[in-house]
Amino acid sequence: MGKRKKLWIGLTLGIAVLLASCGGSSGGSESEAEEPTYSPEMIAEGDSLFQQTCFACHGSDGKGLPNLGKDLTTSEFVRSLTDAELQAYVLEGRAADDPLNTTGVAMPPKGGFSFLTEDNISSIIAFVRSIQE
Ligand code: HEC
Repeated sequence: MGKRKKLWIGLTLGIAVLLASCGGSSGGSESEAEEPTYSPEMIAEGDSLFQQTCFACHGSDGKGLPNLGKDLTTSEFVRSLTDAELQAYVLEGRAADDPLNTTGVAMPPKGGFSFLTEDNISSIIAFVRSIQE
């Protein structure tokens, strides 16, 4: 008999804890928590790499150069992708004859700078996010 009672108390407590932990996290800050944050060092490194590579077509301010690369600061495409998707896009580029290409000009894989590592590109993405308008 005594054992049974203990079990019930344990169960009720368990449920109470579960309910409390579910309710406790609703503070309206959930969407903010999903936004990745980048350290100033990472953004600075991305900036420096961007100025050696991507700037050639996207301009040093990321605003794009005519007939070379698109404006990245106002790009809805950039805004709509997660970091992982953006990483995949930059790794692969977009050929001029790709049906999804919007300018008829090729975006080369890694911008044509094959020495860029995935870490380098992550930093560049942090920089690109920092100049988004
Ligand atoms: C040789 C020129 C060139 C270089 C260098 C280059 N890009 Fe691009 N990039 C383009 C072109 C052209 C497009 C547009 C492709 C299209 O029409 O869909 C583009 C598109 C993009 C887009 C998608 C923008 C959108 O709104 O569709 C991103 C993101 C991007 N480039 C990132 C980079 C990054 C990061 C680098 C440096 C690692 C880089 N690019 C280097 C030419 C270049």
